[in-house]
Amino acid sequence: MSYESITVKPISPHIGAEIGNVNLMKPLSNVEVDDIHKAFAKHQVIFFRDQMIDHEAHKRLARLFGELHIHVGPSTESVPLPDQPEIRSLHFDENSKKVSGERWHTDQSCAPIPPLASILYLHTVPPDGGGDTMFSSMYAAYDALSDRMKEYLAGLTATHDGRRAFGPNAPITSHPVVAKHPVTGKKLLFVNASQVTHINEVPRAESDAILKFLADHFARPEWVVRFKWTPHSIAVWDNRCTHHRAIWDYHPNVRSGFRIQIKGSQPPIPAYA
Ligand code: SIN
Repeated sequence: MSYESITVKPISPHIGAEIGNVNLMKPLSNVEVDDIHKAFAKHQVIFFRDQMIDHEAHKRLARLFGELHIHVGPSTESVPLPDQPEIRSLHFDENSKKVSGERWHTDQSCAPIPPLASILYLHTVPPDGGGDTMFSSMYAAYDALSDRMKEYLAGLTATHDGRRAFGPNAPITSHPVVAKHPVTGKKLLFVNASQVTHINEVPRAESDAILKFLADHFARPEWVVRFKWTPHSIAVWDNRCTHHRAIWDYHPNVRSGFRIQIKGSQPPIPAYA
Protein backbone atom coordinates (compact mmCIF):
# COMPACT_ATOMS: atom_id res chain seq x y z
CA MET A 1 0.00 0.00 0.00
CA SER A 2 1.37 3.45 -0.82
CA TYR A 3 0.90 6.66 1.11
CA GLU A 4 1.24 10.19 -0.23
CA SER A 5 2.03 12.05 2.97
CA ILE A 6 2.75 9.95 6.06
CA THR A 7 5.24 7.16 6.74
CA VAL A 8 3.80 3.83 7.90
CA LYS A 9 6.09 1.29 9.55
CA PRO A 10 4.44 -2.04 10.40
CA ILE A 11 5.66 -3.35 13.74
CA SER A 12 4.39 -6.91 13.40
CA PRO A 13 3.24 -9.01 10.45
CA HIS A 14 -0.46 -9.05 11.39
CA ILE A 15 -1.26 -5.96 13.42
CA GLY A 16 0.09 -2.52 14.33
CA ALA A 17 2.01 0.21 12.53
CA GLU A 18 3.80 3.35 13.61
CA ILE A 19 2.87 6.47 11.70
CA GLY A 20 5.43 9.21 11.09
CA ASN A 21 5.85 12.48 9.23
CA VAL A 22 2.69 14.01 10.61
CA ASN A 23 2.02 16.69 13.21
CA LEU A 24 -1.21 16.05 15.13
CA MET A 25 -0.95 19.34 16.98
CA LYS A 26 -2.17 21.01 13.77
CA PRO A 27 -5.23 20.34 11.59
CA LEU A 28 -4.41 17.73 8.94
CA SER A 29 -4.70 18.02 5.16
CA ASN A 30 -7.20 15.81 3.27
CA VAL A 31 -4.31 13.78 1.91
CA GLU A 32 -3.00 13.11 5.42
CA VAL A 33 -6.49 12.16 6.61
CA ASP A 34 -6.96 9.73 3.71
CA ASP A 35 -3.56 8.18 4.38
CA ILE A 36 -4.35 7.77 8.09
CA HIS A 37 -7.64 6.06 7.25
CA LYS A 38 -5.87 3.70 4.87
CA ALA A 39 -3.24 2.80 7.47
CA PHE A 40 -5.92 2.32 10.14
CA ALA A 41 -7.93 -0.05 7.93
CA LYS A 42 -4.85 -2.07 7.03
CA HIS A 43 -3.07 -2.27 10.40
CA GLN A 44 -6.04 -2.16 12.87
CA VAL A 45 -4.05 -0.20 15.45
CA ILE A 46 -1.84 2.74 14.60
CA PHE A 47 0.65 4.51 16.82
CA PHE A 48 2.08 8.01 16.83
CA ARG A 49 5.04 9.21 18.88
CA ASP A 50 6.20 12.60 20.13
CA GLN A 51 2.82 14.30 19.72
CA MET A 52 2.31 16.78 22.52
CA ILE A 53 -1.42 17.13 21.93
CA ASP A 54 -3.88 19.12 24.02
CA HIS A 55 -7.55 18.15 24.49
CA GLU A 56 -8.60 20.04 21.36
CA ALA A 57 -6.06 18.24 19.17
CA HIS A 58 -7.08 14.92 20.75
CA LYS A 59 -10.74 15.59 19.88
CA ARG A 60 -9.80 16.76 16.39
CA LEU A 61 -7.95 13.49 15.78
CA ALA A 62 -10.88 11.49 17.17
CA ARG A 63 -13.40 13.28 14.94
CA LEU A 64 -11.55 12.03 11.86
CA PHE A 65 -13.00 8.62 12.73
CA GLY A 66 -16.55 9.60 13.72
CA GLU A 67 -18.63 11.16 16.46
CA LEU A 68 -17.22 11.23 19.96
CA HIS A 69 -18.67 8.65 22.35
CA ILE A 70 -19.61 9.39 25.94
CA HIS A 71 -19.26 6.35 28.12
CA VAL A 72 -22.13 6.07 30.57
CA GLY A 73 -21.95 3.88 33.63
CA PRO A 74 -19.37 3.47 36.32
CA SER A 75 -15.70 2.84 35.69
CA THR A 76 -13.54 3.61 38.65
CA GLU A 77 -10.35 3.17 36.65
CA SER A 78 -10.99 6.01 34.23
CA VAL A 79 -12.83 9.23 35.01
CA PRO A 80 -14.49 11.73 32.68
CA LEU A 81 -13.17 15.28 32.74
CA PRO A 82 -15.80 17.39 34.53
CA ASP A 83 -16.24 19.84 31.64
CA GLN A 84 -15.58 17.40 28.75
CA PRO A 85 -17.13 13.99 29.49
CA GLU A 86 -16.04 12.64 26.09
CA ILE A 87 -12.46 12.71 27.41
CA ARG A 88 -11.58 10.29 30.19
CA SER A 89 -8.53 10.59 32.33
CA LEU A 90 -6.49 7.44 33.02
CA HIS A 91 -4.09 8.02 35.87
CA PHE A 92 -2.37 5.25 37.81
CA ASP A 93 0.18 5.65 40.57
CA GLU A 94 1.27 4.35 43.97
CA ASN A 95 -2.31 4.63 45.29
CA SER A 96 -3.97 2.68 42.49
CA LYS A 97 -5.70 -0.56 43.43
CA LYS A 98 -6.57 -1.44 39.83
CA VAL A 99 -5.90 -0.17 36.33
CA SER A 100 -8.12 0.04 33.29
CA GLY A 101 -8.27 -2.91 30.88
CA GLU A 102 -6.09 -5.52 32.56
CA ARG A 103 -7.98 -8.41 30.93
CA TRP A 104 -8.19 -9.00 27.19
CA HIS A 105 -11.25 -7.14 25.95
CA THR A 106 -12.88 -4.94 23.34
CA ASP A 107 -14.36 -1.71 24.61
CA GLN A 108 -18.01 -2.08 25.68
CA SER A 109 -18.83 -5.01 23.42
CA CYS A 110 -21.99 -5.37 25.56
CA ALA A 111 -23.48 -2.30 23.86
CA PRO A 112 -25.91 -2.83 20.96
CA ILE A 113 -23.53 -0.64 18.93
CA PRO A 114 -20.07 -0.86 20.51
CA PRO A 115 -17.58 2.01 20.06
CA LEU A 116 -15.83 2.04 16.70
CA ALA A 117 -12.41 3.00 17.99
CA SER A 118 -10.50 4.38 20.95
CA ILE A 119 -7.67 6.87 21.05
CA LEU A 120 -5.37 6.73 24.04
CA TYR A 121 -2.79 9.47 24.58
CA LEU A 122 -0.21 9.01 27.34
CA HIS A 123 1.82 12.00 28.43
CA THR A 124 3.51 10.22 31.35
CA VAL A 125 4.90 6.70 31.25
CA PRO A 126 6.74 4.69 33.90
CA PRO A 127 10.43 5.72 34.02
CA ASP A 128 11.80 2.17 34.03
CA GLY A 129 9.61 0.77 31.26
CA GLY A 130 6.45 -1.28 31.72
CA GLY A 131 2.84 -0.28 31.18
CA ASP A 132 2.82 -1.70 27.64
CA THR A 133 -0.48 -2.35 25.88
CA MET A 134 -1.01 -5.56 23.89
CA PHE A 135 -3.31 -5.66 20.86
CA SER A 136 -4.53 -8.82 19.16
CA SER A 137 -5.83 -9.10 15.59
CA MET A 138 -9.22 -10.75 15.35
CA TYR A 139 -8.77 -11.10 11.57
CA ALA A 140 -5.59 -13.13 12.01
CA ALA A 141 -7.10 -15.12 14.88
CA TYR A 142 -10.08 -16.01 12.68
CA ASP A 143 -7.97 -16.84 9.63
CA ALA A 144 -5.82 -19.24 11.67
CA LEU A 145 -8.76 -21.38 12.82
CA SER A 146 -9.20 -24.76 11.19
CA ASP A 147 -11.86 -25.03 8.50
CA ARG A 148 -13.77 -27.35 10.85
CA MET A 149 -13.81 -24.72 13.61
CA LYS A 150 -14.81 -21.96 11.15
CA GLU A 151 -17.72 -24.13 10.04
CA TYR A 152 -18.71 -24.77 13.67
CA LEU A 153 -18.71 -21.06 14.58
CA ALA A 154 -20.49 -19.87 11.42
CA GLY A 155 -23.90 -18.41 12.25
CA LEU A 156 -23.53 -18.65 16.06
CA THR A 157 -24.25 -15.69 18.33
CA ALA A 158 -22.91 -14.88 21.79
CA THR A 159 -24.23 -12.95 24.79
CA HIS A 160 -22.13 -9.97 25.89
CA ASP A 161 -23.06 -9.02 29.45
CA GLY A 162 -21.70 -5.70 30.66
CA ARG A 163 -22.90 -6.05 34.25
CA ARG A 164 -19.67 -7.57 35.56
CA ALA A 165 -17.62 -4.64 34.26
CA PHE A 166 -20.09 -1.75 34.48
CA GLY A 167 -22.67 -2.58 37.14
CA PRO A 168 -26.33 -3.69 37.19
CA ASN A 169 -27.65 -1.24 34.58
CA ALA A 170 -25.16 -2.17 31.87
CA PRO A 171 -26.54 -3.61 28.62
CA ILE A 172 -26.69 -7.28 27.71
CA THR A 173 -26.57 -7.84 23.95
CA SER A 174 -26.18 -10.72 21.52
CA HIS A 175 -23.69 -10.29 18.68
CA PRO A 176 -22.53 -12.68 15.94
CA VAL A 177 -19.51 -14.79 16.88
CA VAL A 178 -18.04 -14.30 13.41
CA ALA A 179 -18.57 -10.78 12.11
CA LYS A 180 -17.63 -8.95 8.95
CA HIS A 181 -15.79 -5.63 9.14
CA PRO A 182 -17.92 -2.84 7.66
CA VAL A 183 -14.96 -1.20 5.87
CA THR A 184 -12.63 -4.02 4.85
CA GLY A 185 -15.30 -6.74 4.52
CA LYS A 186 -12.91 -9.19 6.23
CA LYS A 187 -14.18 -11.86 8.62
CA LEU A 188 -13.21 -11.58 12.29
CA LEU A 189 -13.99 -13.13 15.65
CA PHE A 190 -16.25 -10.90 17.73
CA VAL A 191 -16.18 -12.60 21.13
CA ASN A 192 -13.95 -11.72 24.04
CA ALA A 193 -12.98 -13.12 27.40
CA SER A 194 -14.17 -10.17 29.44
CA GLN A 195 -17.83 -9.62 28.53
CA VAL A 196 -19.01 -12.73 26.70
CA THR A 197 -20.81 -15.09 29.04
CA HIS A 198 -21.95 -17.77 26.59
CA ILE A 199 -22.63 -18.84 23.03
CA ASN A 200 -26.39 -18.84 22.67
CA GLU A 201 -27.09 -21.84 20.45
CA VAL A 202 -25.17 -24.59 22.28
CA PRO A 203 -25.29 -26.13 25.80
CA ARG A 204 -23.48 -24.16 28.51
CA ALA A 205 -20.67 -26.69 29.08
CA GLU A 206 -19.93 -26.80 25.36
CA SER A 207 -20.00 -23.00 25.18
CA ASP A 208 -17.60 -22.76 28.15
CA ALA A 209 -15.13 -25.10 26.45
CA ILE A 210 -15.29 -23.27 23.12
CA LEU A 211 -14.93 -19.85 24.78
CA LYS A 212 -11.94 -21.11 26.77
CA PHE A 213 -10.34 -22.39 23.54
CA LEU A 214 -11.01 -19.06 21.82
CA ALA A 215 -9.70 -17.00 24.75
CA ASP A 216 -6.38 -18.90 24.57
CA HIS A 217 -6.39 -18.59 20.79
CA PHE A 218 -6.94 -14.78 20.83
CA ALA A 219 -3.95 -14.29 23.11
CA ARG A 220 -1.48 -16.25 20.98
CA PRO A 221 1.66 -14.20 20.36
CA GLU A 222 1.58 -14.79 16.59
CA TRP A 223 -1.13 -12.12 16.17
CA VAL A 224 -0.41 -9.94 19.18
CA VAL A 225 1.63 -6.76 19.10
CA ARG A 226 2.97 -5.22 22.30
CA PHE A 227 3.31 -1.45 22.21
CA LYS A 228 6.00 0.19 24.33
CA TRP A 229 4.81 3.63 25.24
CA THR A 230 7.06 6.67 25.32
CA PRO A 231 5.88 10.04 26.66
CA HIS A 232 3.39 11.72 24.30
CA SER A 233 2.56 8.62 22.26
CA ILE A 234 -0.89 7.86 20.92
CA ALA A 235 -2.59 4.56 20.07
CA VAL A 236 -5.69 4.48 17.85
CA TRP A 237 -7.28 1.03 17.82
CA ASP A 238 -10.14 -0.35 15.78
CA ASN A 239 -12.48 -1.72 18.39
CA ARG A 240 -14.33 -3.76 15.74
CA CYS A 241 -11.46 -6.10 14.89
CA THR A 242 -8.98 -6.03 17.79
CA HIS A 243 -8.72 -6.98 21.44
CA HIS A 244 -6.42 -5.17 23.83
CA ARG A 245 -4.97 -5.61 27.27
CA ALA A 246 -3.08 -3.20 29.50
CA ILE A 247 -0.17 -4.56 31.55
CA TRP A 248 0.14 -3.30 35.12
CA ASP A 249 3.74 -4.11 35.95
CA TYR A 250 4.86 -0.61 36.95
CA HIS A 251 3.37 -0.03 40.41
CA PRO A 252 4.18 2.33 42.23
CA ASN A 253 5.23 4.37 39.19
CA VAL A 254 2.95 6.75 37.32
CA ARG A 255 1.27 6.11 33.98
CA SER A 256 -1.09 8.86 32.94
CA GLY A 257 -3.05 10.19 29.98
CA PHE A 258 -6.42 10.62 28.33
CA ARG A 259 -8.72 8.46 26.23
CA ILE A 260 -11.46 9.32 23.76
CA GLN A 261 -13.78 6.75 22.22
CA ILE A 262 -15.51 7.04 18.87
CA LYS A 263 -19.18 6.10 18.54
CA GLY A 264 -19.90 2.98 16.55
CA SER A 265 -21.85 3.45 13.35
CA GLN A 266 -23.66 0.09 13.28
CA PRO A 267 -23.94 -3.18 15.21
CA PRO A 268 -21.39 -5.90 14.34
CA ILE A 269 -22.40 -7.38 10.98
CA PRO A 270 -22.92 -11.16 10.92
CA ALA A 271 -20.47 -12.77 8.50
CA TYR A 272 -22.99 -15.55 7.99
CA ALA A 273 -26.50 -14.18 7.70
C1 SIN B 1 -8.08 0.44 28.05
O1 SIN B 1 -8.39 -0.73 28.10
O2 SIN B 1 -8.79 1.26 27.50
C2 SIN B 1 -6.75 0.88 28.63
C3 SIN B 1 -5.61 0.54 27.75
C4 SIN B 1 -4.31 0.97 28.34
O3 SIN B 1 -4.29 1.64 29.38
O4 SIN B 1 -3.28 0.66 27.76
